[in-house]
Amino acid sequence: VASHLLAYFFKELNHDQVQKVDQYLYHMHLSDETLLEISKRFRKEIEKGLGSTTHPTAAVKMLPTFVRSTSDGTEHGEFLALDLGGTNFLTDNGLRKVEMENQIYAIPEDVMRGSDTELFDHIAEWLANFMDKLQIKDKKLPLGFTFSFPCRQTKLDESFLVSWTKGFKSSGVEGRDVVALIRKAIQRRGDFDIDIVAVVNDTVGTMMTCGHDDHNCEIGLIVGTGSNACHMEEMRHIEMVEGDEGQMCINIEWGAFGDDGLLNDIRTEFDQEIDMGSLNLGKQLFEKVISAMYMGELMRFILVKMAKEELLFRGKLSPELLNTGHFETKDISDTEGEKDGIRKAREVLMRLGMDPTQEDCVATHRICQIVSTHSASLCTATLAPVLQRIKENKGEEQLRSTIGVDGSVYKKHPHFAKRLHKTVWRLLPDCYVCFLRSEDGSGKGAAMVTAVAYRLADQHRA
Ligand code: GLC
Repeated sequence: VASHLLAYFFKELNHDQVQKVDQYLYHMHLSDETLLEISKRFRKEIEKGLGSTTHPTAAVKMLPTFVRSTSDGTEHGEFLALDLGGTNFLTDNGLRKVEMENQIYAIPEDVMRGSDTELFDHIAEWLANFMDKLQIKDKKLPLGFTFSFPCRQTKLDESFLVSWTKGFKSSGVEGRDVVALIRKAIQRRGDFDIDIVAVVNDTVGTMMTCGHDDHNCEIGLIVGTGSNACHMEEMRHIEMVEGDEGQMCINIEWGAFGDDGLLNDIRTEFDQEIDMGSLNLGKQLFEKVISAMYMGELMRFILVKMAKEELLFRGKLSPELLNTGHFETKDISDTEGEKDGIRKAREVLMRLGMDPTQEDCVATHRICQIVSTHSASLCTATLAPVLQRIKENKGEEQLRSTIGVDGSVYKKHPHFAKRLHKTVWRLLPDCYVCFLRSEDGSGKGAAMVTAVAYRLADQHRA
């Protein structure tokens, strides 16, 4: 009887705590009605970004990528792929089989925020080391470059950085062609040569990688450090590019949704705080609400505010919890991933120098759920209009489509993917959407774009 009473007592206590948090963060609960309203706004943003007269002032840039075709599986050859997080060397031995050697090099923070020469010399050095390792420095191989930032492309191998996002702030790169910058860095070294064929965004790389296995794949989605998507659009709707025939992949750059104030009614005081502490004030406001780079910090802001109002931790705060970056996005995944999430919440809080009560741990666990669900819901709100658009472009009553997905939040958070899928299926009952995880990274996709470009050039010559 005593243990039953105790269990009952804890259940009641947990329930009260959960209710308290839910009430406090009620504005982070997004109903389907609200999600549909956000979808409606995003749909207009897509149109604005695509129209030649509205494009210059559009927050969501809808950038043409000059990728016109996905892989048909017949490409073959040896290609290098470079990603600003890793370098891959790929050899494709015939049909549908890709062998890959890769090496991950980290970029130190001072290089991310240093000068253009520092950054590109660093990248050229990676390439040199990698080619040395594989003993291929004497070959002039074709290279696909995954560059995961908004770029204005005029062709496949010319890509002007619009603005840095996420943690990058290297000076002298915005407005310049990153292909020219790498070529110059390689020339400065003079110990190897490379044929840079394509620059692709990571969303495009992901769509291409998944498209190799599923020809229905026409959307690439990333929910990781940043968040963004790309999709195959009809050329006749892309007013910034000449020609009406066929399709082209568009890098949506949805992270900038809301930069013109369109989401002000949805953004919370915590989102504003995140923005104020960021490297790119007033920019990438949608990304700052949903992606891994900011989610842990969002969590920390909520805990601090609730403590200051004496709703948590008996009003006490540790120096760690008061310091930027100490609550990590990974802590959210871990807390929600454990069977006993409340115990995990205690572990995280204790690591941060706190002495939490059972109620504090229950509340922290609940806040994790709210923050990650909020992110998944918002992702759905932007994904839905993209799917609807593809459906309308095809003039089909029912759409069957595949989305290639990558990114740490999608892949590592224990419930994020499931929540995202369920909400998409619920909001779009007439679309059969399949989600395909990209297992080999966006670098492989860059090599595939390169391979497709080679195949098309061969056909052209023949
Ligand atoms: C940021 C970048 C975008 C990229 C995304 C995911 O939003 O601007 O280009 O696709 O992060 O990495």
